[in-house]
Amino acid sequence: MSILVISTSLNPGSRSRIMAKQAIADLQAADIETDYLDLQDISLPICDGGVCYGDKQLPGVKQKIINATGVIMAVPIYTFDVSAAAKNLIEMTGRDCWTDHVVGFICAAGGQGSYMSVMQIACSLMLDFRTFIVPRFVYATKGAFDGDVIADDEVKTRITELSKEVVRVSNALRG
Ligand SMILES: Cc1cc2nc3c(=O)[nH]c(=O)nc-3n(C[C@H](O)[C@H](O)[C@H](O)COP(=O)(O)O)c2cc1C
Repeated sequence: MSILVISTSLNPGSRSRIMAKQAIADLQAADIETDYLDLQDISLPICDGGVCYGDKQLPGVKQKIINATGVIMAVPIYTFDVSAAAKNLIEMTGRDCWTDHVVGFICAAGGQGSYMSVMQIACSLMLDFRTFIVPRFVYATKGAFDGDVIADDEVKTRITELSKEVVRVSNALRG
């Protein structure tokens, strides 16, 4: 059992990354093996459906996802969807990485009105790649933070609950 937490925001002051780090802390506190992928640490090309798949970093990125029993994706909401970088990661890695994997989402947004924005990519993963999406998201806006600290206890609790749920569903799938 190993849970991969992916931070997809390219913003150095990312709030979704702060939440990703809490998810790792929660998982480690529960003695769950974790791995971490931060898109700020690599520079994946934009998917062009061809040459991009020869990128040298890609095999390592794909292997991290394949090795994981479950994945928590921390995403920024941009234009009522996950950010282009988050979507690009899925386009670059593809079906082999995501089929039969359990995925939970942590979202950072500017306002409450974009709550459903993660559904487009969730449906794509579910119906195209047969990914198991955990039906519980974490969604937080700026007001939940005090600088780089999560100030809203409900958001903290929701991250803990999501982490537990990704573990529970991953265990159930492994039989
Ligand atoms: C280009 C762009 C588009 C955005 N679109 C939305 C949006 O549609 N809905 C929303 O609630 N917030 C939107 N935001 C605000 C971000 O979701 C917010 O800044 C969030 O904290 C980004 O995540 P991060 O801090 O992890 O990078 C947008 C921000 C940018 C830069």
